[in-house]
Amino acid sequence: MVFKINGGNRLCGSLKIESAKNSVLPIMAGAVLTDKEVIIENCPKISDVFAMSDILRSVGKIVKFCGENLTITPDEGFVGGDLNFSTDLASSVRTSVLMLGALSAKTKKAKIPYPGGCDFGGRPIDIHINALKMLGAKIAEEDDRIVCGSPIKGGKAVLPFPSVGATENVILACVLGKGDSVIVNAAREPEIVDLAAFLNRLGAKIYGAGTSVIRVEGVKNLNGGTIRPSPDRIEAGTYLVAAAVTGGEIELNNVNAENISSLLGKLCDNTCKFKIKNDIIYLHSGKRKKAFDLTTGPYPLFPTDLQAQASVLAAVSDGRSKIKDEVFKNRFAHVVELKKMGAKVSVHGNLATFDGVPVLHGAEVCAHDLRCGAALVLAGLNAEGTTVVHDVKFLERGYYAMDKKLAALGADIVRA
Ligand code: EPZ
Repeated sequence: MVFKINGGNRLCGSLKIESAKNSVLPIMAGAVLTDKEVIIENCPKISDVFAMSDILRSVGKIVKFCGENLTITPDEGFVGGDLNFSTDLASSVRTSVLMLGALSAKTKKAKIPYPGGCDFGGRPIDIHINALKMLGAKIAEEDDRIVCGSPIKGGKAVLPFPSVGATENVILACVLGKGDSVIVNAAREPEIVDLAAFLNRLGAKIYGAGTSVIRVEGVKNLNGGTIRPSPDRIEAGTYLVAAAVTGGEIELNNVNAENISSLLGKLCDNTCKFKIKNDIIYLHSGKRKKAFDLTTGPYPLFPTDLQAQASVLAAVSDGRSKIKDEVFKNRFAHVVELKKMGAKVSVHGNLATFDGVPVLHGAEVCAHDLRCGAALVLAGLNAEGTTVVHDVKFLERGYYAMDKKLAALGADIVRA
């Protein structure tokens, strides 16, 4: 599957942003903790959600879309024995690892395959494992699977890095049970706040989400409930950069400007103008683009998930821009593809240096991972001539109907 793009059109118009993929996925793992119905509103129909849905089905849930909402209910007819799922399923989505915390809390013993996810130089899970051990879990490896026996006893887990997934895994492992647990140096991303808000709505007792110290008081069981996760800040940021690299003007509905303030600041430096009203952002892109520097980091610093997209803007901004990724130090698969489109860029370690060119030119390029794919689409929108982005299956893990949304804004793009 490819996206074929004839570049050069200014993007104009408005579009609605989906609920955040990186909130929906951990919330789906959290649904394992209750035997009641869970409804996730405005849920994106993306392949990572479909993969997590199959994982939940294999541990005894009925998962289905009802319009824009995803409903998760117990499968009364499930005869599953030990709750487990296949290695293929686990390796198709990073958040399969969250089933370790969720299943060990729910069934007191979890045995799961190693997770997958986009590959930019390895996705270790040592922080997850060590944090669970600090709270009394017994973790072992059995036939190529991770086993988390004996429930959390409570205590303090100090993370060496504010890992988003490890923070989520520990929260899920601690919600049910007797002990009180504290996570120190927790991730502060808005998606953590969403997960805690969801679980608290079901009756959990989680305090401090969004700060670097999170406390969880174990409870006996959880009710059901409905959640509308935050808007997807990475999807929103991707479309704002799309407008910037095409000199366009767009209006985004269902966005939380506070969650992408780091990007808005960079786009201002780059001569974009904004108007923000409630959950609407209106962006007008300046003609001349000025070079900028950025370094990614844990929230609220600039998100690594927008690094590849910002690289495209740097590639066509006057002057020299430097982009450093301090979260995933090898996340530069997009650079070799952007060079095929005329970008002047070099990478040393985790620093990419761009000397801006007036415009890119079309080429055949490959989406090596989700955000690399998104970046190459943005590059194609800017480029003179035709760009063909291959392997858009990676892109469709995290973007619902990207081709249709861009076409509605005036882009010349088809899925073929
Ligand atoms: C989450 O991944 C997101 N995925 C990623 O988004 C995002 O890039 C990342 O957080 C950082 O914000 C989901 O939420 C599904 P981490 P996660 O644990 O949890 C190292 C996207 O494009 N690390 O915060 O896997 C790790 O290698 C995806 O939507 C360890 O060393 O990220 C990285 O360098 C891609 N050991 C850093 O920490 C561990 O046990 C941050 O990883 C865990 C992580």
